[in-house]
Amino acid sequence: MAQTFEFTVNGKPVSVALDNEEAPLLNVLRNEFGLMGTRFGCGLEQCGSCMVLIDGEPEKSCGRPTWAVAGKSITTIEGLGTRERRHPLQQAFLDEQAGQCGYCLSGILISAKALLDRNPAPSRAEIAEALDGNICRCGAHNRILRAVAKAAAAMQAGASP
Ligand code: FES
Ligand code: FES
Repeated sequence: MAQTFEFTVNGKPVSVALDNEEAPLLNVLRNEFGLMGTRFGCGLEQCGSCMVLIDGEPEKSCGRPTWAVAGKSITTIEGLGTRERRHPLQQAFLDEQAGQCGYCLSGILISAKALLDRNPAPSRAEIAEALDGNICRCGAHNRILRAVAKAAAAMQAGASP
């Protein structure tokens, strides 16, 4: 029998009825809510492409059963900004062309947002440490680190998320 779970996604209350309460949050976000920005990479909590914020903490959604997020607040990449009103991180990644294929970037932007929320002026080493759970197979790491530092500086100078 299907069970219903309620939580918040990008500020909106949602509910979903599932036959399998163990269904990963990643699948539910993509298949039930059409939020295709959160990516399936390894499915084994190894690559970080499926990263979302759960109550403000970066978590790999491929390893998180949906029952475990009932009552919690989820933020996906779609909740960061829009094409018209980009989050400073999104703007900085565009400015620095910080990516090649782009597959890893949703997860990296989510991890970077969590970092800047708790540490508005991180060092390069702190940025690298915060992104340690995210793999970029294109090797865009230097540009990614530069982009996060640029976004932090922009936000310190008054750019609003
Ligand atoms: S798809 Fe979740 S960590 Fe790789
Ligand atoms: S830009 Fe291709 S995996 Fe990171």
